[in-house]
Amino acid sequence: MALALSSAPTFCHRVLALRSGHARRGIGQVAIDSRSSRKRSAPIVAAVQIGGVTLTREEVVRQDDPTNNVPDSVFSKIGLQLHRRPDHPLGILKNEIYSFFDEKFPAGLFRKFDDLSPVVSVKSNFDDVLVPPDHISRSYNDTYYVDGNTVLRCHTSAHQAQMLRDGLTHFLVTGDVYRRDAIDATHYPVFHQMEGFRVFSESEWKDTGLDGTDLAVKDLKETLEGLAKRLFGNVEMRWIDTYFPFTNPSFELEIFFKEKWLEVLGCGVTEQEILKSNGQSGKVAWAFGLGLERLAMVLFDIPDIRLFWTSDPRFTAQFKAGQLGTKFKPFSKYPPCYKDISFWITDAFTENNLCELVRDVAGDIAEEVSLIDQFTNKKGISSHCYRITYRSMERSLTDEEVNAIQDKVREEVAKQLQVTLR
Ligand code: DAH
Repeated sequence: MALALSSAPTFCHRVLALRSGHARRGIGQVAIDSRSSRKRSAPIVAAVQIGGVTLTREEVVRQDDPTNNVPDSVFSKIGLQLHRRPDHPLGILKNEIYSFFDEKFPAGLFRKFDDLSPVVSVKSNFDDVLVPPDHISRSYNDTYYVDGNTVLRCHTSAHQAQMLRDGLTHFLVTGDVYRRDAIDATHYPVFHQMEGFRVFSESEWKDTGLDGTDLAVKDLKETLEGLAKRLFGNVEMRWIDTYFPFTNPSFELEIFFKEKWLEVLGCGVTEQEILKSNGQSGKVAWAFGLGLERLAMVLFDIPDIRLFWTSDPRFTAQFKAGQLGTKFKPFSKYPPCYKDISFWITDAFTENNLCELVRDVAGDIAEEVSLIDQFTNKKGISSHCYRITYRSMERSLTDEEVNAIQDKVREEVAKQLQVTLR
């Protein structure tokens, strides 16, 4: 699937079209399926600190709440804040974008936030930015729920409304975001986004001969083309009309890079309703959202999204603050190990649940999970066969350990996913 703004596109209509073919699940059922996968052996920290807020494991991984589907493997990523490490590719990229805004606009005009807690209300994550009540991104299959009213933000747009209520008119919000999704080289349950937002007052368009919306579109496109040039050099670019719940009109920016059109961000003119409901009546605004891994993988030649999380110095030592152009030199590529698993599925089965279980059991040595065969028997029961690729970024795996992991995966799949192993 083509990538959008992030490692896991959700809000643009092209993806919606792709995903709407998936059967929707009963919410409770999926939540219960996925939450039981949290039992794992790795040590779990008891609490993390983010921007002065303390989040304890008990608050986020609620064993007692059937609406909770946050596994320990995801909780353990909260607070790591890769985007705040100056020598990390994500930190380098964030700082480069900051510099661009501080040079194009008066320095400091855009207020910067990168330390907001990822635990947000359903209202901020969805309602406040006009995500429709039946939108697929709200499902327990796609989003991590802490409880019925609280989620791990699935995008940095979750902070828009509060920022507006706080009276901010120019801001950049960077943060870790969380989505239940597939396992492959570009999808990981945690990734990073940056949201940009600019509010215009009437005085700014009055004398330009443009109306507010036209001014916002013009300024938005100029700003983002400038940003793309700053990051990618003199590349060919094109604007694609699209749909987001929060903006109208909405666009995606694509650049021609290594012989391919590559989507780099989503943006648009903010829906009036969002401004009005949050104390900014009579204004016009633009907003954009970009996926940092998406851009960093291209800019630094990083072939696998898991590498962002490694503390192996052969990775981390290759990057230095301020050096955007560095190309990653793979230190070695260890051999993959493939294991297939086949089972009869029921309606409750989803690939996201399988992937999360594999991630929980195998950790980051799970490189890819792909459906390689499926059929339906005469009784109408369907069989799926998945190939799991195991490979460490850091070392060779032994047959023994992969077999032990695969046995555990089989055991947990049978126990938790209500399927019958074949
Ligand atoms: N929130 C969107 C996503 O996660 C990205 C995005 C698109 C943000 C358009 C925006 C916007 O602010 O205007 O896919």
